[in-house]
Amino acid sequence: METKVLKATEEAIEKAAVIIKNGGVVGLPTETVYGLGADALNASAVEKIFEAKGRPKDNPMIVHVSSIEEIESLVKKFPEKAKLLAEKYWPGPLTIIMSKSDKVPMRTSGGLDTVAIRMPSHPVMREVIKKSGCPIAAPSANLSGSPSPTNAKYVFDDMDGRIELIIDGGECEVGLESTVITLATEKPRLLRPGGITPEQLEEVLGEIEIDVAVKSKLEENAEASSPGMKYKHYAPKIKVIILKGDTEKYIEYISSHKENTAALCFEDEKEKISIPCVTYGRSDDSSSQAKRLFDALRELDETGAEVAFAHCPSDEGVGLAVYNRLLRSAGFEVIEL
Ligand code: TXA
Ligand code: MG
Repeated sequence: METKVLKATEEAIEKAAVIIKNGGVVGLPTETVYGLGADALNASAVEKIFEAKGRPKDNPMIVHVSSIEEIESLVKKFPEKAKLLAEKYWPGPLTIIMSKSDKVPMRTSGGLDTVAIRMPSHPVMREVIKKSGCPIAAPSANLSGSPSPTNAKYVFDDMDGRIELIIDGGECEVGLESTVITLATEKPRLLRPGGITPEQLEEVLGEIEIDVAVKSKLEENAEASSPGMKYKHYAPKIKVIILKGDTEKYIEYISSHKENTAALCFEDEKEKISIPCVTYGRSDDSSSQAKRLFDALRELDETGAEVAFAHCPSDEGVGLAVYNRLLRSAGFEVIEL
């Protein structure tokens, strides 16, 4: 199959909507990362997403909508708490898990009786949803296990020959996937941190639980609250190791480990680093780190080094999402300096 990449014109958006209506898959920009979109209510269309990504079959999709009205028929109950979150943070980088209605195929929910719903803010994604006339299931548009793509070129690198069309809507604003919160548990629980912070969620919900898997590795036989937690994630080809400590200690460690190594550091540290280096944002700005992290992980592979030493970010606010993704890309390997 030849994979076309088209700039996000009206005509291209129309084309994407037609493909989705007819049960096909399209690479689409959102404000978080690019997604692989298909009709969420068409099980065989969703099946094609699993095939294109090489995604484990029990890992459910996020269903994207463009208006609140579309949600009523997708859920058993639209809880008051979800409505409050929606009012404050939608459209935006937040996904809410609720009990699903029979209209959502088991293929989409990975066999679960819940469904993850998000209303994205990206104008192209919103237009495609409206024009195709169906909710769109869309996981991140990477091959399963790789860093999520934040531009159309990275989608093409992973999906060339696997899907018909990619719509190029430029660079993604947030750079990391949406925050995932479940309202299907007794107490609201954060399953994946993202652009909407725990503090922002608590403003609406009161105290929330943070799933143990957000900051640590799941035990061998532990049950995952979210199937995605079980699988290897965001890993570039290079081996990543996180170094935790101040800039001075970080630089000192690097200067005694120069053989076949590269650094993943902050912009304000770059000048002091004596090995090949890729930067990810400023040391005091988590949002700039979020925006750069996945690109930086892909760029590290181009250094030709075997090991990348990543300087550990803050885990406050949006930093929790940055730390969560970096931890997974490092296979949880952290050295305390
Ligand atoms: O920002 C995003 O959320 C992007 C863009 C494209 O919207 N999408 C995205 O999808 O990150 P994906 O499939 O890469 O990640 C969805 C995560 C997975 O870890 C999955 O296991 C979890 O959400 N998830 C989906 N439905 C769930 C459910 N019903 N219960 C628990 N976890 C669920
Ligand atoms: Mg993903």
